[in-house]
Amino acid sequence: MENQAPAKKKSVFSGIQPTGVFTLGNYLGAVKNWPQLQDDYRCTYCIVDMHAITVRQDPKQLRQRSLEAYALLLACGVDPQKSNVFIQSHVKTHAELAWVLNCNTSFGQLSRMTQFKDKSQKHPEDINAGLFDYPVLMAADILAYQADLVPVGIDQKQHLELARDIAQRFNTQYGNTFTIPEPYIPQATAKIMSLQEPTKKMSKSDTNVKSFISILDEKDTVIKKFRSAVTDSEACVRYAEGKDGINNLMTIYQAVAGKSFEEIEKDFEGKGYGDFKTAVGEAVADHLAPVRDKWKALMDDKDYLKQSYTDGAQRALAISQRTIDKVYKKVGFIPLG
Ligand code: TYM
Repeated sequence: MENQAPAKKKSVFSGIQPTGVFTLGNYLGAVKNWPQLQDDYRCTYCIVDMHAITVRQDPKQLRQRSLEAYALLLACGVDPQKSNVFIQSHVKTHAELAWVLNCNTSFGQLSRMTQFKDKSQKHPEDINAGLFDYPVLMAADILAYQADLVPVGIDQKQHLELARDIAQRFNTQYGNTFTIPEPYIPQATAKIMSLQEPTKKMSKSDTNVKSFISILDEKDTVIKKFRSAVTDSEACVRYAEGKDGINNLMTIYQAVAGKSFEEIEKDFEGKGYGDFKTAVGEAVADHLAPVRDKWKALMDDKDYLKQSYTDGAQRALAISQRTIDKVYKKVGFIPLG
């Protein structure tokens, strides 16, 4: 039909902490999906350095890691021409919106967040108010961009439900203000497990470096880590309950080699775990090699990175400022000028 306005693209938001090189878990659970959404959605992706300081950080290291994480996002295929890609502390609206949302979030609800409980157990010497309030800043990140969809791993589901609750409550109290975001959690890779303790999530803060793959690990290291992965004594490559280690390796292999579980089982019939672990290691290393090369080239071009995160921040500010203006008006603040 003529004269029909094109449908407005829906909006996507996600973020990642610059607390170390992304793991294979971060990559398969979240970041790998981000570039795939760029053509069909208006995407905004963010390095959340303000979330990172809820746990003590060395300032110099945080600066370095934030830049490295920004370059990693681009190396993974996030395109700053198609998406707004920026660093959270460059865009003041996140903190501004978080404050208003704080005043509309109950203490009881925040106390039930499992990540807060886990992290306060891990860092008993520093249970700061920011750590407790972390999910509200995350809600502000999402709601500031009126995101329809939030691509994350399963560990962020509870935080996302909170963001939805906060948005719904605010809309009821003050009138329609926020889009209610939906989680986008691809089931197959929603939770990649530790290679050493396959009942635990793979995490970059794990003290045992053999438990996770950093996406910048060299090929030899990747293969070595997979070869030392904890499995079981059955010596049969099949996906089944109780075979957490093998199930995890099959999940990873499926994601990087594009093979179904049936194909994998068939390919490795009668073969030992040694062969399988090496094959998974090689497939992962080959998959990640171009990311590493691209990352190194980007880190050699600091001017480009600076230009890119500056542009990204300016665009992000323009979008999120519209939400802040609306929110400030709704809660009764006098507009300036
Ligand atoms: P973070 O930095 O811990 O993790 C970034 C993304 O990686 C996913 N992830 C995993 N997925 C599968 N298997 C794993 N082992 C695994 N480990 C991590 C996470 O689910 C996440 O999607 N609070 C967030 C960052 C954040 C955010 C946001 C996310 C801040 N504001 C707004 C979405 C929207 C976090 O700490 O992610």
